[in-house]
Amino acid sequence: MNDGGGEFESRKRSAVLGALAQQLASDRLLGVREVPFVLSEAAFRPVGALCVADVADKSGALVRLDRERVQGCRACSLCETRTNTVFGSGSSAARLVFVGEAPGFHEDKQGKPFVGRAGDLLTKMTDAMGLRRDDVYICNVLKCRPPNNRDPAPDEIVACSAYLLEQLSIIQPEVIVALGAPAARTLLNTSDSIGRLRGRFHDFHVSGKPTSGSPTPLMPTYHPAYLLRNPAEKRKAWADLQIVMKLLGLPTVR
Ligand code: URA
Repeated sequence: MNDGGGEFESRKRSAVLGALAQQLASDRLLGVREVPFVLSEAAFRPVGALCVADVADKSGALVRLDRERVQGCRACSLCETRTNTVFGSGSSAARLVFVGEAPGFHEDKQGKPFVGRAGDLLTKMTDAMGLRRDDVYICNVLKCRPPNNRDPAPDEIVACSAYLLEQLSIIQPEVIVALGAPAARTLLNTSDSIGRLRGRFHDFHVSGKPTSGSPTPLMPTYHPAYLLRNPAEKRKAWADLQIVMKLLGLPTVR
C-alpha cells in the first residue's frame, strides 16, 4: 500500500538533493562557496502542470509553425545567407521561456539555439536555477543568423518577431526572461537600456496592447555573451534569475 508519508519523504529527499545540485551549479556559475539555501513548499510542485492533450496540442502547433512557415521563410534578406533556420528548443509545456537575440555561427550550422559558448553559459544558468534545458523553452527574436553576428536590423526584427509572438502565445509561459537588449526592447516595445530594464518584472502583452488579456511577467537580464565578456556582471544576472525562481516557486539561494 502506498503510504502518503513515505511518498512525501521521498519527494522531500529528492527536492533536497535537487537544491544541493542547484547550490553546486550556482557556485560554479559565480565562483561563490558555502551559500545557505532555503526550500519553499512550492519546490514540491511539478514543473509542468499541463495534461497530456495540452502538451500535444502545443507541441504540434510549434512544429507546424516551424515546418510550414519558419523553415521556408523569405521575409528578409537573411534567408540568402542562412544555413538553417533556428526555431527554438525545449519543452512546449515550459513555465519559463528564455528569449535571446539571434543565432550565431554554431546555431546556424546546427539549427539549434544557444549551442555555442553563450549557450554553455545559459546551460550553467539554468542548472543554477535547478532546471534542465529540457524543462524550459529557448528561442530568439531572429530565426536566421545575421552575417558576421552583426546586430539585428530593425527591418529584420519587424519581419521575424511575429514568429516569436506566435511561439509565446502557443506556449503561454508563466514567465519570460529576455536575454539582452534586443530581446527586451522587442518584447517590451521600448528603447531603454538593458541596465535600466533589468532587475524587475515588466508586463509583456502578446498583442503589444496593455489593454488586452492578462500580461506575462518578463524579466530582462544580461545576455550570456555579454556575461562572458563581463564576468563581474554575472552576479546581477543571477540576482535577476533568483527573482524569476521566486515567482516560479523554485528553491532560491539566500
Ligand atoms: N546568442 C543568441 O542570442 N542566440 C543564440 O541562439 C546564440 C547566441
